[in-house]
Amino acid sequence: MADRLRIGMIGCGEIAVQTAKGIAASTLGQHVMVMDTDARVAGDLGVTYGVPHTTKVEELLANPQVDAVYIAVPHYLHAPLAIQAAQAGKHVLVEKPIATSLAEADDMIAAARDAHVTLSVAYLAQVDPVAQTMHRLVAAGAIGNVVGTRIVYRGDKPESYWHGGYSGRIQTDWRTSKAKSGGGVLIMNTIHDLNTLRFITGLEVVRVSAEYETFTTPVEVEDYVAATYRYDNGAIGTLEAGSAIRGRDPLREVNRIYGDAGQILFSNPARIFVTQAVEGLQAGQWQDLPAPTGSHGGDRAAMIDGFAGAVLNGRPPVVQAEDGRAALQIALAAYQAGQEHRTITLGPVAKAAV
Ligand SMILES: NC(=O)c1ccc[n+]([C@@H]2O[C@H](COP(=O)([O-])OP(=O)(O)OC[C@H]3O[C@@H](n4cnc5c(N)ncnc54)[C@H](O)[C@@H]3O)[C@@H](O)[C@H]2O)c1
Repeated sequence: MADRLRIGMIGCGEIAVQTAKGIAASTLGQHVMVMDTDARVAGDLGVTYGVPHTTKVEELLANPQVDAVYIAVPHYLHAPLAIQAAQAGKHVLVEKPIATSLAEADDMIAAARDAHVTLSVAYLAQVDPVAQTMHRLVAAGAIGNVVGTRIVYRGDKPESYWHGGYSGRIQTDWRTSKAKSGGGVLIMNTIHDLNTLRFITGLEVVRVSAEYETFTTPVEVEDYVAATYRYDNGAIGTLEAGSAIRGRDPLREVNRIYGDAGQILFSNPARIFVTQAVEGLQAGQWQDLPAPTGSHGGDRAAMIDGFAGAVLNGRPPVVQAEDGRAALQIALAAYQAGQEHRTITLGPVAKAAV
């Protein structure tokens, strides 16, 4: 195969602008074509990167130059477009959440398997050197057994966000609609953290209780959610997220992982406390995490290189479709718990075939 993976973009809206920069900056990816049902934004990215643009997905999928697609469209369109692309023989990197239901995620996984193409989800933790360092330290037992995790997200999204995102690049209603987005701050934002903690700890959530509500924002989806959950090793997780938290967070509280022999803080720089001197860490004091300097989350060039490297070398992607499904499964269980006022036991977590 070629030195670079030739990527067609499906969806040229707000986040696609950032990913397009990532493709251009990557060492293993390459722009070949872009597509959006909105001709203006398709044309914008096409001209910027000097590649053809179209409003017809069939045209992009019929292009033999396109090895793989990156899909960044409203959530309810992830599954149909990913399946269409897989059936056209294209490898797929789809934005988070993988889909809005587990049935859709399963159909996507089956379509990719049947077509012998790679399906991955655009999570960044797996290619983030800080998260990778946390993963290595937890696996090495630096903080002992994980006994708890905490997710906290305090946003105060402007009213304009709901119809134009943060940039106003596209006017749309999908973020406000339960049917089109699958939900609010939980499935939109905190699902990143669910993926990150799952990657770092290797733990699976087995049951979830939750409450959620739309308190402040004139939309269908929730703007506040709280959840507690139990992991398969017995540890307990808590999640608190809001998208209309006035005053946001002057204390700058962050996610944490608690172990019986230490703690990890998702500050910037990330910090760790250990009770035993292990892995070059000092016992009994807080210290910066020994992560590579200059590393940061959100690196879309690294995401593209991770995906492209796996496809080009015939390896499983760094974020497997099953990882995307597992994060979705937790979020959907929390919605069900909140809706039905009961604790939800999760079904088995699907594992990728090796
Ligand atoms: N990974 C991240 O950190 C991150 C950040 C922001 C958004 N996202 C995800 O990216 C996706 C898109 O979000 P966004 O903020 O860019 O939304 P957006 O509304 O700005 O852009 C979506 C684009 O999809 C296009 N579109 C709609 N229907 C289409 C179709 N049938 N075929 C092709 N294009 C179509 C729209 O015209 C629009 O340009 C969502 O899944 C979102 O959750 C991820």
